[in-house]
Amino acid sequence: MNDDTIALRAEGLYKVFGRHADEAVIALHRGTPRDELGAATTAAVIDASFEVRHGEIFVVMGLSGSGKSTLIRMLNGLHGATAGTVEVGGERLTDISPKRLREIRRRRISMVFQHFALLPHRTVIDNVAYGLEIQGVERDERIARARRVTEIVGLQGWEEKHPSELSGGMQQRVGLARALAADTDVLLMDEAFSALDPLIRREMQDQLLELQAELGKTIIFITHDLNEAMYIGDRIAVMRDGRIVQIGSPEDILTNPANDYVEQFVQDVDRTKVLTAESVMRKPRAVVHVGAGPRAALTLMRDEQVAGAYVVSKDRSIVGWVRDRDVFDLVRRGVKDLSSVIQSDHGAVATDTALADLFIPSLEAALPLGVLDSRDRLVGVIPRVTLLAALGGEPEAAVQAAPRPDPMPTAEVDQVLEAAVGAGAAEPKEAL
Ligand SMILES: Nc1ncnc2c1ncn2[C@@H]1O[C@H](COP(=O)(O)OP(=O)(O)OP(=O)(O)O)[C@@H](O)[C@H]1O
Ligand SMILES: [Mg+2]
Repeated sequence: MNDDTIALRAEGLYKVFGRHADEAVIALHRGTPRDELGAATTAAVIDASFEVRHGEIFVVMGLSGSGKSTLIRMLNGLHGATAGTVEVGGERLTDISPKRLREIRRRRISMVFQHFALLPHRTVIDNVAYGLEIQGVERDERIARARRVTEIVGLQGWEEKHPSELSGGMQQRVGLARALAADTDVLLMDEAFSALDPLIRREMQDQLLELQAELGKTIIFITHDLNEAMYIGDRIAVMRDGRIVQIGSPEDILTNPANDYVEQFVQDVDRTKVLTAESVMRKPRAVVHVGAGPRAALTLMRDEQVAGAYVVSKDRSIVGWVRDRDVFDLVRRGVKDLSSVIQSDHGAVATDTALADLFIPSLEAALPLGVLDSRDRLVGVIPRVTLLAALGGEPEAAVQAAPRPDPMPTAEVDQVLEAAVGAGAAEPKEAL
């Protein structure tokens, strides 16, 4: 990967607590199992390597004790690594002086904790400004910056309150604002939302995504909630017993779990919220060009045994759809052009539509639901069986879907096609 795009890089990172740490690293490297290191030695992180891109939300997930907090604490030097390296903005934390390390922690990488760590006797605004105070930013400027981020996290009007007057969700926002005020490129968030009740938690997740879109921070986010990981993560690293066992996009993790551990993790995930139209769509078969003649269109529908076809323009952007019966009628009447029967209510969805949002459109669509890219090009379709199979994580053969209208009987279609050819009428051959 190009270095400009990398905000943070970890390579061969180990953290061993307890006795004979260096020997333990060598032993682990040679393949000694973690639980044979002896009771006084804990290998919390074993050989972790990954890169986090600028502007990415990188989630670290795993069961309690799998090493998430230890890993994230090595990323800002709160824990020294037993072996391996961490690079932030191209600088190796492992090679620099304690003074420089403190500076990096203030200016490049800030942290939000699970239990907000707010100062109870200070007002909201002073809590938010606290990190800047430590940085030695002068009072007027730090208050001005603190006001800005307080507004960003939706706490305007609460600046002069004390933490005890705030709800848990609001306190968490203060913690987030404090980290944002430091204006570092990288934000580390260790179970930052875990103490919140579910509704407020979802609200904070949305807010984080909004902030992310607006400010473009690089965020490393720890959680042991897989739905949260899937919802906010661009990529997810799954940890087990100190090791990263898989790194991938939420869809990768869900559809190709690397092992049984990951598979068990993803069992409870709400697939309808993670999987998108793009991940389940099929290649569209019955598609005709807007300039195609009725005969070409009818022939295609007969060959594919479908009751309708999508109509697209030259650049594949969607125009609408046609029904076989209407096209049949055109052929019978000797009409050379499809346009009079093209229906514009195609109901197609965008590639990033969540499965959960496909049910209604799928029920309403006369054809397998169309899927459009950002330029309105028809890039796929989702037959109902495909949708149902994806929901259940089952093969399509195991699923029965409500039928769509049957295609017209082939014999009848053949008859009218032959008659049209007999009449010698030429029409443009532009079926795709
Ligand atoms: N300071 C320490 N000294 C000794 N052992 C430690 C220390 N910190 C963590 N450990 C051990 O390292 C392992 C990983 O702990 P860590 O806190 O990183 O896990 P975690 O994934 O963050 O768990 P949780 O989800 O409960 O926060 C555990 O076995 C833990 O007991
Ligand atoms: Mg932890």
